[in-house]
Amino acid sequence: MKSPTRDKLLEVKNLQVSFLGIKTVTALSGISFSIGERETLALVGETGCGKSVAAHAIMRLLPPESGVKGTVELRGRNLLGLSEKEMTEIRGKEIGIIFQNPSLALNPVYSIGHQLAEPLRLHRKEKKKKALSRAAEALKNMGFANTGEIINYYPSWCSGGMNQRFLIAASTILDPALLIADEPGKGLDRSCLSELEAGLKRLKEEKKTALLLISHDLGFVRNLADRVAVMYAGEIVEIADSSGIFEEPLHPYTKGLLNSLPEKGFIPIPGFSPPLSRLPSGCRFHPRCPLRKRCCIENQPEIIETNGRAVRCFLYP
Ligand SMILES: Nc1ncnc2c1ncn2[C@@H]1O[C@H](COP(=O)(O)OP(=O)(O)OP(=O)(O)O)[C@@H](O)[C@H]1O
Ligand code: SF4
Ligand SMILES: [Mg+2]
Repeated sequence: MKSPTRDKLLEVKNLQVSFLGIKTVTALSGISFSIGERETLALVGETGCGKSVAAHAIMRLLPPESGVKGTVELRGRNLLGLSEKEMTEIRGKEIGIIFQNPSLALNPVYSIGHQLAEPLRLHRKEKKKKALSRAAEALKNMGFANTGEIINYYPSWCSGGMNQRFLIAASTILDPALLIADEPGKGLDRSCLSELEAGLKRLKEEKKTALLLISHDLGFVRNLADRVAVMYAGEIVEIADSSGIFEEPLHPYTKGLLNSLPEKGFIPIPGFSPPLSRLPSGCRFHPRCPLRKRCCIENQPEIIETNGRAVRCFLYP
């Protein structure tokens, strides 16, 4: 489903990812979505549904044993058809990414200022002083006041929340049009999470950066996303604007996810996601769905568009 109101920045069409091994596992079964310029799209869903695989497939960072089909177009250019050299140019400059495990992304032996300034010196040939002053500005945008001091800090001196904001500053220092943030708030306490949220909002407002936000935290998603795509077992089951998802969810799985919000009483969805190597027949959600009918067990629902949103369920239209 395309972004309804904005020029298209990223369009993912029928993206399929399989991992080839003793038993082939299909992690993504043909997902499609788009992100408009300056838009924030959130990808949500339970663990193992394929969110990180989607992010890595877009960036062409999957391991060699993976098979990828479909298209990933950035402003009309299919990234899956580019050479590795061309793709290296895209990473950082046009699409930034922060990974689910941030502790591996910052180098412990270099100062924060050095790590932020390095891409500017390398790609834009900026002089050290100018690059460091840009690094300080990027830190200010992430909500740090004493930037002259902080550029001399090392990652090990700082909290997880500070490091996460350093990473966002580093991933966006070259002003990419899109930032992919995979669980940026994971492990952070409430106050760090609010600072992170404010930093991401400033990035959207001041730098006009589009965001693919992957998160388990639905409160965080509700505060930041323009639209939300809900994934279940390697498929997208619903896409709608944020108010549609949070105020009028259609898919029984989306409704179940929202019941886990504190204001709904933390009610978990009974049962577990199926292993991708042993998917159920028919609708993948049917073993857990309180509204399943006979046809749900026998037939697979297609994703259909209805009133500007998309849903994969026999209850609609
Ligand atoms: N390199 C790999 N080889 C085989 N299977 C893999 C590989 N990487 C991911 N998978 C499988 O693909 C599925 C989707 O994984 P993914 O990491 O995208 O889940 P996720 O939605 O990001 O979950 P989480 O919320 O826990 O981060 C999982 O079943 C995972 O085991
Ligand atoms: S298709 Fe059937 S089982 Fe699947 S979510 Fe809809 S009602 Fe539930
Ligand atoms: Mg993940």
